[in-house]
Amino acid sequence: MKNTFFVVSLIVLLVACQKFALPDKNGDSSSHDEDESHEKGKNCMDCHYSAGYAEGVFTLAGSASGNTNNADVQLFETQGGSAIRTIQVDRLGNFYTPNDIDFSNGLYVGVRNSNGELEMMEDEIFHGQCNLCHGTSIEETLTIE
Ligand code: HEC
Ligand code: HEC
Repeated sequence: MKNTFFVVSLIVLLVACQKFALPDKNGDSSSHDEDESHEKGKNCMDCHYSAGYAEGVFTLAGSASGNTNNADVQLFETQGGSAIRTIQVDRLGNFYTPNDIDFSNGLYVGVRNSNGELEMMEDEIFHGQCNLCHGTSIEETLTIE
């Protein structure tokens, strides 16, 4: 019964997502002074996914708590290298981008606070669904110092 409920919930969720016009694939990335996002802590790509739909795809998205004011998420090809991509954290602590990112070789990720202090994740990531791990039993919520 529990499984049936889960499957039904998932279908309802997916159908619910498809009914809305999601932000465009060429839409905006998050920015420091905006608060248009929502669903903090959830895996954004549960709904903002591709599955054959042109719209509403985020390549990287997630949530952070703590000192999120004017913070950035940055991507790197090597630990200690220079950032290849910077995504601003919005006023709710969420961040997202629809822009193409090549994760096929793995990328390193870090968060930079408004003082410019960078905190890196040790392991490489191979997709941009931060909240698939952070804020779940896999890893704690992303907290910016
Ligand atoms: C349960 C499904 C669902 C989840 C999870 C979800 N979204 Fe959305 N999102 C939507 C839908 C549907 C819309 C379109 C209209 C609306 O309801 O706001 C949307 C719209 C948006 C918009 C556009 C708002 C605007 O006014 O243009 C942004 C930005 C956004 N979501 C960011 C995020 C971020 C970041 C996350 C993860 C922290 C996330 N969403 C998680 C379903 C979801
Ligand atoms: C596959 C699961 C997974 C994904 C996806 C993931 N993380 Fe992590 N993250 C971890 C784990 C596990 C750690 C602790 C070990 C480490 O640093 O590698 C961590 C640590 C971190 C840290 C170091 C500080 C801390 O809180 O421990 C930062 C910063 C971070 N992640 C940011 C991100 C961002 C931003 C994204 C999305 C672009 C992301 N992570 C995606 C699992 C994940």
